[in-house]
Amino acid sequence: MPVITTIEDLHRIYKRRVPKMFYDYCETGSWTEQTFRDNSSDFARIRLRQRVAVDMEGRSTATQMVGQDVAMPVALAPVGLTGMQAADGEIKAARAAEKFGVPFTLSTMSICSIEDVAAHTEKPFWFQLYVMRDQEYLANLIQRAKDARCSALVLTLDLQILGQRHKDLKNGLSAPPKMTLPTMANLATKWGWGLEMLQTKRRFFGNIIGHAKGVTDASSLVDWTAGNFDPRLDWSQVKKLKEDWGGKLILKGILDAEDAKRALDVGADAIVVSNHGGRQLDGALSSIRALPSILRAVGDQIEVHVDGGIRSGQDVLKAVALGAKGTYIGRAFIYGLGAMGEPGVTRALEVIHKELDTTMALCGRKNIAGLDRDILLVPKDFEGDWV
Ligand SMILES: Cc1cc2nc3c(=O)[nH]c(=O)nc-3n(C[C@H](O)[C@H](O)[C@H](O)COP(=O)(O)O)c2cc1C
Repeated sequence: MPVITTIEDLHRIYKRRVPKMFYDYCETGSWTEQTFRDNSSDFARIRLRQRVAVDMEGRSTATQMVGQDVAMPVALAPVGLTGMQAADGEIKAARAAEKFGVPFTLSTMSICSIEDVAAHTEKPFWFQLYVMRDQEYLANLIQRAKDARCSALVLTLDLQILGQRHKDLKNGLSAPPKMTLPTMANLATKWGWGLEMLQTKRRFFGNIIGHAKGVTDASSLVDWTAGNFDPRLDWSQVKKLKEDWGGKLILKGILDAEDAKRALDVGADAIVVSNHGGRQLDGALSSIRALPSILRAVGDQIEVHVDGGIRSGQDVLKAVALGAKGTYIGRAFIYGLGAMGEPGVTRALEVIHKELDTTMALCGRKNIAGLDRDILLVPKDFEGDWV
């Protein structure tokens, strides 16, 4: 067993173990990938203030996200096709999150279905909703999330039209993979992944196949998304969805202060400052850069979360010290899952937790409530002077 001390260690093992098609799907951003790169590199621009001779006994990273207790302010982000990164991937990730005490968010585009994840976990998880054209299917999906006792609905607003990721088109991304010659040649080198995949029946989009009318083959993600995601989604429908759901609503994909104000109007419980991990509007600001202006606009009226580029506990600390009440990790947990299954997700959470706890102490703080702007050194031009 290799010694894993960083998320990058998991990334290296992940790259060796998982078929190229799914590695590329995770690792890319849209078009030039500028926003994808900025998401991580902008975190590195923020520095920390070292403080000493402060009593550091009895520290805690525990806090709350949308009123729910969490072991640290980190949730697992919704990631489509997680069950292609490792067999039964959503169930494995949900179990690891449950045991660690952080929220797991199941994507609409998951391989394991809502019911399947509910049957293999004990605590409620969160469900991420994409708005589809088929209203009957949509209503049914919301009802299924209610029946599974999902404790928050994460409504994603930034992917009604799919940003282009070149590698997915070139690789012919599908679930399960289509057996072309290059794919077969690559799979021959990924026998660990393949053996596990042969032992599970969960290889299709579990929330869609058998539920959406006329969909018997949703194998091509790109085609299915283009045909079924509803580009007419607007704020009036968001408001209606809030009423239909009736529970905690988190709006994901807000990157502009004006949109954050609209989120207040519809009565959302939280927003996630996010650019979909740099997978949608290439050229948009990194999430951590967009965060301060959104906090100034709505931070005292709604819970603000952030995701994009988080690869360490130091990144979590920086986001929280800027004012975010919670963060999400996407790729960081996928690396763990693809590398080592459920123990790999646990390891990713442990790495981030240890980094967060130790860095908090070295900054002279004992708990999450104590993390404030005062521990950060932010470059004067960090937010940018845009017109
Ligand atoms: C492979 C992959 C698939 C994703 N699928 C979804 C999805 O189905 N629904 C969604 O709301 N966001 C999805 N996202 C975006 C994540 O929820 C999250 O916003 C992003 O991963 C955060 O950036 P990070 O990966 O740098 O942590 C996906 C991201 C990745 C990397």
